[in-house]
Formats: sequence, structure tokens, C-alpha cells
Amino acid sequence: MIFNVDIVRADFPILELNVHGYPLAYLDNAATAQKPSQVIKCLQNYYEYQNANIHRGTYYLTEFATELFEEARKSIQQFINAKHQHECIFTRGTTEGINLVANGFTRAVLKPGDEIIISQTEHHANIVPWQMACEYSGASLKIIPCNNAGELEIDRYIELLNPKTKIVAIAHICNALGAINPIKEMITLAHQNGTPVLIDGAQAIAHQSIDVQDLDCDFYCFSGHKVYGPTGIGVIYGKTDWLERLPPYQGGGEMIQTVTFLKTIYNHLPYKFEAGTMPIAQAIGLQSAIEYLQKIGTANILQHESMLLRYALEKMKDEATINFIGYPKERAPIISFLLADIHPHDVGTILDHKGIAVRTGQHCAQPTMDRFGVNATIRASFGIYNTFSEIDRLIDGLRDAVKLFKR
Ligand SMILES: Cc1ncc(COP(=O)(O)O)c(C=O)c1O
Repeated sequence: MIFNVDIVRADFPILELNVHGYPLAYLDNAATAQKPSQVIKCLQNYYEYQNANIHRGTYYLTEFATELFEEARKSIQQFINAKHQHECIFTRGTTEGINLVANGFTRAVLKPGDEIIISQTEHHANIVPWQMACEYSGASLKIIPCNNAGELEIDRYIELLNPKTKIVAIAHICNALGAINPIKEMITLAHQNGTPVLIDGAQAIAHQSIDVQDLDCDFYCFSGHKVYGPTGIGVIYGKTDWLERLPPYQGGGEMIQTVTFLKTIYNHLPYKFEAGTMPIAQAIGLQSAIEYLQKIGTANILQHESMLLRYALEKMKDEATINFIGYPKERAPIISFLLADIHPHDVGTILDHKGIAVRTGQHCAQPTMDRFGVNATIRASFGIYNTFSEIDRLIDGLRDAVKLFKR
């Protein structure tokens, strides 16, 4: 398909909105992406004509809904190139995926004195579950520092790896700075040390083509809502051996084979980790988002987004009032910065009054903010429907903010 941003934009009804008298320029894709009408219609169609609970009935609708749900799993398997369908477990999102693994490691792997490696630039979702794991197991957390560009210091990582390291958990792309971490190299190094690796793919899933077999990661998780799909759905991929070894995260219906008051036998994969009624519509909606992206083509998406990124960086570099926070060589379309000495929240409000949506704050990454000695940043993040003219509007809005605060 030949990429045409106007055609893509026409698929997203929300982009027709006017905010404070201006057309919406949505530059907060790292927080959540907007949904194309294909996904919205898929959800509506499910609730109108397909809704039933799955895996537990004998009538037409339940069998049909079950088929759709398992088809969604299959399409996710293909999307991330997992070896088996049962290696793709549905969750509520990235946060739940990380908690599922951290909880399993706490109960089945970690012992006092063990170590867990994460980095200085993780989202809270990839910090707090591991702190909890340490609290309950007696393991301790080791942190890979980052340099002033926001890149992880791989020499320090190599020094941290040792026989006590029981898991490495790293973001594929840092949400606060946009840095693309060298995860393939980091996975190889961990495996040479006999250590499994969990990759937090929350940001990468929308901007990279993911091949979990090629990466050879042990776990990979992401959220549907960041990849133009619904909220309330995500995936944790795990290698079969690891998923077999970890205990179930939650107990309830569907994750069991037999239950008596004496003993419960757990279900096989993937159901062992899918307790209770799953977000069925959302899983099917996620499949529709994936099909939408596949139709546009990963190469087109990457090219469009890298052009937007380059254009924005070039324009922003010319503004003396912009101070970049982190400037990694390998970067996703995410830019964190400060504007003169104006508080990021004030900048966010001024931009909002011009219809421009950016994120301001800590981005759920307080240790990253601490590393750079700031309380908050302004973050612009781009997606498939953004345009050069929206970036021009962002720059104009920033200039106006500076003028306003100079008075
Ligand atoms: C890198 C990273 N990890 C984890 C998360 C948590 O994702 P969710 O809130 O969808 O579970 C986010 C969300 O912004 C993120 O950017």
C-alpha cells in the first residue's frame, strides 16, 4: 500500500475534533494511541452480534465468540512471531504482564541474596513489581545507569551480571526519553550469564516490528491501547519452558482443569494464566488494530514516523529556548524537553488552548526525572496519523508560550 497520511487520518474519527477552536493535534501517542474506525466498528459489531462468554458453552454464540478470541491470539502470535499460540497470554496490559512474571518469580524462582537487574530509565510499571518481588523474596534490585543522552551504560550492565542475577527486566523503548535500548545485545549478554530477560515492549510495539524468536527474549509484554487497539487488553509472551515453570498469577474459573476441596489441577497453557472472564471484545479489537497496521505496512509506518521525528528534532534544535532531556542516538518518535524556565504544566496548558495535546509531568518515570535533575518534562510523541504541519503548530505554540512568559 502507498502511504498517504490523509487517508490514514480519515480512519480516525477523533482527529476531526476541534479543541478550543483549533483542530486537534494529538501528540501524546506514547500515553495512548487513538483508534481507527475499523477497531471501533469491530467492538460495536462484537457487542451487537457476537457477544457471549467463551470456552464454557455449547451453543452457537459461545462457540463463535471462542473462535474469534482464539483467532485473535493466533494473529498476535503471528504479529510478534511467537513459536506457539499458547505462549501468548492475554492480560489487561503491560503492567499486568510484568506483575504476572514478577509474581511468578517471587514464588517459584527468587531466593534471599538473588539479584534482579532493571535500568535507571524504566517506567514505574517495570520498577515497582520488581521492588515488591525483592520485598517478598529477599532478592535485591540492581540498576543499570544511563548517560546524559539517556542511553544505558552497557559496560555497567556487564559488570552487574553475575551468578546471582535471576532476571533482567528492560524497556525496549524508554517512554520518558524515547531511547531505543540495545535489547538484542543485552539479551545475548544475559543469556551468556544464564539469566532470562523480560522486555517491556509498551512503547516499542507501535514503532518497531517485533520478532520475539529473533530477539530470543524470555518474556515480552505490551498493551493494546498503545498500538491503536482498545484499553483493558495486553499480551505477555513467554517461552513455553518459563510459562510451564511459573505458577499461575491468579486463581479462578477457566485456569483450572479440576477443582476439589482437597486439590486443584491447573489448566494447560495459555489458560493457566487467564483466570476469570477475559476482556473478549478487547482481544478481538486488538486483532483488528493489528490487521489495520499490517495493511498500512510496518515499513511505511517506520518511514513516516522517522521523517516526523527528524523534522521535529531539526526544527526544535533551532529554538534556543528548548532544552532536550536526553538525546539518544537511537530514538523512537518521542521527544522530552523543557522550554526556557517555564513549568512544563504551564506549557501543556498553553498548547492545549491551541488544540495541541502533549504530555507534561514525570511520565511514570520518577527515577528518570531524578537522573536528569528535573521534576517534569514536556513530551511530544508521534504516531501514524501525525503530520509535519502539526509539528509546525507545536513549534509556533512553544514560541507563543515563551513570548507570553516574557511579558
Ligand atoms: C515503557 C512503559 N512500560 C509500561 C507501561 C504501562 O503500560 P499500561 O499502563 O498500559 O499497563 C507504559 C505506559 O505508558 C510504558 O510506556
